[in-house]
Amino acid sequence: MAKIQIENCTKSFGELQILKGINLEIASGEFLVLVGPSGCGKSTLLRTLAGLETLDGGDLKVEGKSIAHLEPQDRDMAMVFQNYALYPHMNVAENMGFALKLQKKSKSEIDKSVNEIADLLQISHLLDRKPKELSGGQRQRVALGRALARQTKIILFDEPLSNLDAHLRGQMRVEIKRLHQRLKSTMIYVTHDQMEATTMGDRIAVLKEGRIEQIGTPSEIYHQPKNLFIASFIGSPEMNFIEGDLVKRLPWPEAQKGENVLGVRPESFKISQGPLEPNEFELGSYHIELSENLGGQQMLHGSLEGQSVRILVDSTYNFSKDEKVKLKIDLTKSHLFDKSSGLNKRI
Ligand SMILES: Nc1ncnc2c1ncn2[C@@H]1O[C@H](COP(=O)(O)OP(=O)(O)O)[C@@H](O)[C@H]1O
Ligand SMILES: [Mg+2]
Repeated sequence: MAKIQIENCTKSFGELQILKGINLEIASGEFLVLVGPSGCGKSTLLRTLAGLETLDGGDLKVEGKSIAHLEPQDRDMAMVFQNYALYPHMNVAENMGFALKLQKKSKSEIDKSVNEIADLLQISHLLDRKPKELSGGQRQRVALGRALARQTKIILFDEPLSNLDAHLRGQMRVEIKRLHQRLKSTMIYVTHDQMEATTMGDRIAVLKEGRIEQIGTPSEIYHQPKNLFIASFIGSPEMNFIEGDLVKRLPWPEAQKGENVLGVRPESFKISQGPLEPNEFELGSYHIELSENLGGQQMLHGSLEGQSVRILVDSTYNFSKDEKVKLKIDLTKSHLFDKSSGLNKRI
């Protein structure tokens, strides 16, 4: 286990500043997910941590000691990439043990580590096979095993599941979490997939254009998004954003000042006819245009006084096309953003 501190890190490529002063502290044994749109600097940050890129400014510390000047091999970190390349002429066991062999570990030490990790990843029966004799999912497991077999205190993942199909990705997500619970290494996991981030992270750091926009637990980020960017990036289906006069009707003093955007997640609306609960507010009349059946739930598409709004309701709810219903929101789960700065005015 090892605590990591990233302090005011900057990095440019040519004229372009990619990392604009990153500050991040990762607790020993934590699983931190770094998420953000493609091109925001996630890989660059991970690569500087691993020593594959040099920093322009700032410092990187492990257990309080600077590692910024150390060569990659001296940083005691393993890294798993999206485009892993296994050595084709080596079998699985040799692939997994290769880094340990370079470190001049004894054969018995290498065997012990490889067997232990192969057991954890349930690939013990594949140890004699060559990469070409493996499925895509098995190869990704071996790539993971190769990083884990080094038994480093820190493991960095750069979109390791992006090449897998949705089903396998779901499985591997759970397995990586399980491995984390067993190994207790400090892990930093990079992804552009907000779903992967919220399901896997102890904490999530959301990156945009080389800056960290918000850090918190998945629940904090989901329920208290700091700004419009976070609110629209995290959560699927996406939050609804409502503007104009409708917003002025809200019983919040902040809603009366300036131009604002009301953010409501599809599941935070209610259509029921009954009296208002203390935290509920009737927003207006909703015109239902169509429904998508999602199994247990259905997504209604329609318009709220001219603005399109999507609502998640129980699939047992029966409606007719062109029906008009009264739409309520839960005020404790609704957000008010300043239109020009994007900031959440109520947290
Ligand atoms: N070696 C490099 N030389 C020049 N530009 C680079 C290099 N590596 C990355 N970039 C640029 O830096 C930006 C961030 O890249 P990257 O960190 O890979 O983003 P992400 O992993 O979030 O998708 C991109 O615009 C990319 O083109
Ligand atoms: Mg990347």
